[in-house]
Amino acid sequence: MSTLKAVRGTRDLLPSETALWNRIEATARAVFARYNFGEIRTPVFEDTALFARGVGEETDIVSKEMYTWEDRARAQSEKTQSLTLRPENTAGVVRAYIEHQLGETGQLQKLYYIGPQFRRERPQKGRYRQFSQIGAEVIGPTSAGSESPLRDAEVLEMLATLLDEMGITGWTLELNSVGSAADRARYNEALRAALAPVVDKMCVDCQRRAVTNPLRVLDCKVAADQPIIDTLPVISDSLDEASRVHFAAVTAALDAAGVAYTRNHRLVRGLDYYTRTTFEFTHGGLGAQNALLGGGRYDGLSEMLGGPRAPGIGFAMGEDRLVLTLQALEAAHAPKADAFIAPLGEGLNPAALALAKELRRAGLRVELGEGGFRLKKSFEAADKTARRIVIMGEDELQSGILTVKDFATGLQTKVPRAELAVFLSKPAGE
Ligand code: HAM
Repeated sequence: MSTLKAVRGTRDLLPSETALWNRIEATARAVFARYNFGEIRTPVFEDTALFARGVGEETDIVSKEMYTWEDRARAQSEKTQSLTLRPENTAGVVRAYIEHQLGETGQLQKLYYIGPQFRRERPQKGRYRQFSQIGAEVIGPTSAGSESPLRDAEVLEMLATLLDEMGITGWTLELNSVGSAADRARYNEALRAALAPVVDKMCVDCQRRAVTNPLRVLDCKVAADQPIIDTLPVISDSLDEASRVHFAAVTAALDAAGVAYTRNHRLVRGLDYYTRTTFEFTHGGLGAQNALLGGGRYDGLSEMLGGPRAPGIGFAMGEDRLVLTLQALEAAHAPKADAFIAPLGEGLNPAALALAKELRRAGLRVELGEGGFRLKKSFEAADKTARRIVIMGEDELQSGILTVKDFATGLQTKVPRAELAVFLSKPAGE
């Protein structure tokens, strides 16, 4: 009998990993509390129409990635219903906002969530079919200030704080504005016109996108298409005065709060509900799936779902990607030995042990290799565990002059044995 395994794109998290997940979630909850957010928990499955209307029929998520099924009627009086495992949480939160008439309070609703989402994507590092998001939404009537650019800047500043407190360094905030629905329609036309004479030189996906949804051409990763994409009009030229003023106010507030960002004219995002501000925080350590999180403003979403006017802004962090980034950063900062001693041949093992004893007694952290290893293998093992490698060959033993290589600088130095302990106790790279 074949053994059963977790479904492709899903994973078990064992105790060795869940500790880090819990730490990340605890940090998020603590930061959300300081910014006065409350937790919302919406169902894991919803009416399919919610995502079709909210996220958009034409998007990749709705057109090909959703887990959707016809739910059987249990009684003759019941109808079958199309249900979908949530691919994201913003549409569910806005549905709940409408259903519970949260706008009637007249206050801004500041809601956060942590939980699983489902998309039938091609699994790879950082991309799964069940993944977890930590997200937040700020939504409310315009009278509560929900449209203010200060809300955008506050959310972005909170994200910078969140990442800092989680210990994630080296991120980049990429920022753009996709304007109002009318701005986007204008931009789509400009793109369509610019693409017409060149699209036959582009990849097949772009040829399709140029017809169905020209904005998506900007997401193309095919190298040969990039020079063409670079010549296309940019969305900032299609923004109306109000959207420009809004964006300028967001960046002014970010400057005042010391949150660094770069403008990415191609950041249009893969969900249809966005208006004005869009953003992603990326991290170089993640490889191809480099978005730690994404979000933006969605001033028309509530009305698209049949609710009152309720502008909003929010984001979702990919928790799996936060974990991957932290694991990589922690591995890079794991304490390393001061030296790895590599005997050249088994006959030098005893001499290497004597040297290791000498250095350890001098207070150094020392890893002892094995003379039976080939030199290449010793170097690989040393690079993983220590800042420097000390070669102990026949010549070194006779002359009392040892060869030390520093992995940070790549420099090789000859050091008399009597000076070795002092040499190795200096910080790496000196
Ligand atoms: P999104 O960009 O589709 O936006 O997803 C947000 C983040 O979730 C991504 O940046 C990524 O870190 C993570 N993510 C997405 N798909 C996967 C996957 N297959 N595997 C692992 N991680 C993934 C949204 O979902 C919007 N609801 C964000 C939002 C909230 N906008 C406004 N409010």
